[in-house]
Amino acid sequence: MKPVRVLFVCLGNICRSPLAEGVLREAVNRKGLASALEVDSAGTGAWHIGDPPDRRSIEAARRHGIDISALRGRQVAAADFNDFDLILGMDDSNVRALKRLAPEGTAEKVHLFLDYASGREQDVPDPYYEGAEAFEALYQMLEAGCSSLLDRLGARTS
Ligand code: 4NP
Repeated sequence: MKPVRVLFVCLGNICRSPLAEGVLREAVNRKGLASALEVDSAGTGAWHIGDPPDRRSIEAARRHGIDISALRGRQVAAADFNDFDLILGMDDSNVRALKRLAPEGTAEKVHLFLDYASGREQDVPDPYYEGAEAFEALYQMLEAGCSSLLDRLGARTS
């Protein structure tokens, strides 16, 4: 069966979406679903193309046994809307930017992450200007969201 391909998207692709990518990949590997689900991340902005994740996201992941230090920032491209099945924006502004970028017929792949995962119309807030403690809260939010996402996708991956 073809894997479900999930793309997490935030603004910079250095704080939220690479951490979400690491958290989901870890959960997928733990459940033995690596061949059923592929995950990647990207940003709507171009500032951090080629950059590693923010050190606070790297640290938050590391505290929970996940290494995201090798990930590198990239910008969402038109091809992503064909290459991925689900394009999940971290906040409402990411979703609006994605819908503007979506080639015709692909906008239905775009959703607000927590709304799609758990039916909660809630943003994953941008932690860039926050302190280190915001990154632990971010991790917890992403972990809960990814767990709900896997529950929701269960029917498609099993
Ligand atoms: P992210 O956080 O969207 O979660 O990666 C940000 C990182 C960088 C910037 C904004 C948000 N920036 O403006 O450079």
